Amino acid sequence: MPEPISQVEYWNGDVGERWATMQAELDRVFAPLTDALLAGAALRPGERVLDIGCGCGETALLAAGRIGPSGAVAALDVSRPMLARAQARPASGAPIAWIEADAQIHAFAAEHDVVLSRFGVMFFEDSLAAFANLRRALRPGGRLAVLCWRTLSENAWVNVARRAVLSVVPEPAPSPPEAPGPFRFADGDALTDVLDRAGFARAAVTPVDRPIEIGSDAEAATRFAVTVGPVAGLLRDLDAPTRERAVAAVRAAMPEGGLVRLGAACWLATAVAPE
Ligand SMILES: C[S@@+](CC[C@H](N)C(=O)[O-])C[C@H]1O[C@@H](n2cnc3c(N)ncnc32)[C@H](O)[C@@H]1O
Repeated sequence: MPEPISQVEYWNGDVGERWATMQAELDRVFAPLTDALLAGAALRPGERVLDIGCGCGETALLAAGRIGPSGAVAALDVSRPMLARAQARPASGAPIAWIEADAQIHAFAAEHDVVLSRFGVMFFEDSLAAFANLRRALRPGGRLAVLCWRTLSENAWVNVARRAVLSVVPEPAPSPPEAPGPFRFADGDALTDVLDRAGFARAAVTPVDRPIEIGSDAEAATRFAVTVGPVAGLLRDLDAPTRERAVAAVRAAMPEGGLVRLGAACWLATAVAPE
């Protein structure tokens, strides 16, 4: 079996390029989830914010607007194409430092008021080391607010398409439970446990359930579902005729009648750095 590629390679390859190309659409689709994250982060003017796995910059840019010119944002990611997209976007409010670095080991100054992340903390190879490093990036009393996916079966926006593809191709062997991936923290207790062990206080998870609009019709929703996330991964190595059958199965599974709105289920995890 081939060695799994590292997250740095993964997010600098075609996946990172695709996220950069689809930035506007992804941010539109995920907007209701982004709102829940920013509500949980409760940013105040003048705060220093660290965005982990900032990708194409949406949450860093929104945070900069909320904290205003007296605040500061550091936005960190390992993906060059996604950071390039982020840097090209118009910004206002607090200055943003875009940093290409690995959050697990980057030497942060212990000066941040808030660490936040939209779907960036499930991809660590060593979650305990990474969260301990993020805790050290906070001043005493600083806050963490991160958004992670719950289970596949609770996320119809992925699972409808995934089940359709699996009617055509065999299901791949499951990844080990602690392997990096979008559903790494589907078990909220695993997330609060690692936050506790990393030295955070008051770690808690709150479910966030929002329908998200993945396409203006079944055709657009199919395009979205097969281009990003785990379903794109299932299709990647298929020969052209099998891929075509799998995409046709996804198209047939999408609800008809205009806008396609499917359920998305996340954990909003919050914690504080001890005083
Ligand atoms: C699912 S994407 C989310 C991107 C962005 N936060 C968003 O919501 O659009 C996950 C991001 O985490 C980044 N990432 C993965 N491992 C990382 C690490 N160890 N340090 C920093 N960023 C990482 C990836 O490069 C990618 O941009």
